[in-house]
Amino acid sequence: MSKKPVTVLDIQKMKAASEKISVLTAYDFPFARLLDQAGIDMILVGDSLGVVVAGYDNTLPVTMDEMVYHTRAVRRGTQRALVVADLPFLSYQTDLSEARRNAGRLIKEGGAQAVKLEGGENVAATIAAIVAMDIPVMGHIGLTPQSIHRMGGYRVQGKLEEQARQLLADARAVAEAGAFALVLEGIPASLAAEITAAAPIPTIGIGAGIDCDGQVLVIHDILGLCEKYSPKFVKRYADAATLISGAVDDYIREVKGGVFPGKEHSF
Ligand code: KIV
Repeated sequence: MSKKPVTVLDIQKMKAASEKISVLTAYDFPFARLLDQAGIDMILVGDSLGVVVAGYDNTLPVTMDEMVYHTRAVRRGTQRALVVADLPFLSYQTDLSEARRNAGRLIKEGGAQAVKLEGGENVAATIAAIVAMDIPVMGHIGLTPQSIHRMGGYRVQGKLEEQARQLLADARAVAEAGAFALVLEGIPASLAAEITAAAPIPTIGIGAGIDCDGQVLVIHDILGLCEKYSPKFVKRYADAATLISGAVDDYIREVKGGVFPGKEHSF
């Protein structure tokens, strides 16, 4: 694995070379460092941090200041991976100049190398305005968590023919607006394959099947750290919750039993 920092151009070349793109979320320095050292291509500082780190029910309460804080921590732990930060709800929907300023904050204050925002045709002008500032943008269509109230919950999108047609149009609009990549979340695998084949930019799937150009998952989900809910598309690669609970149990037992600290931990 090359130590050279990954750029948006590298991500686009990977689609051309049919090399799959690996993406995980991270929200702090130690996780970013572990993911980076393992060779992940892209780290997403997702607004999912509202759920898995802050304990909210959904991503809507996450603020710009919180995104900047977490992005800065991730950036300090990352040397190679491309760091992409989410624009949270209400940071880009109201007007273009606010969207541009907030995208700029994630780059200038957070140190991100690209930003992500949710939506298709409805945000094409916003994507174009941010790209015109030379800030790379990753789009995100399908099951977009910031639209939870419109969708009536976290539901697979694009199952009906009209919805599928709209998602194809959304993917086209996002690419034409200048996005360098596109997250496809919670859509049928066959539709994701169709979008991926048609799109000139890489698609990064989450709950969108095997044919996307890359895959993204939430780090807490693959480590079994999020007990609240576990969607079908998540694969659990480790049971870190059991590991942590075991370590904490041992610590409590040793403190209560007068075993810790031993001589070797004392001055
Ligand atoms: O917020 C997030 O982590 C995301 C990914 C799950 C795609 O948007």
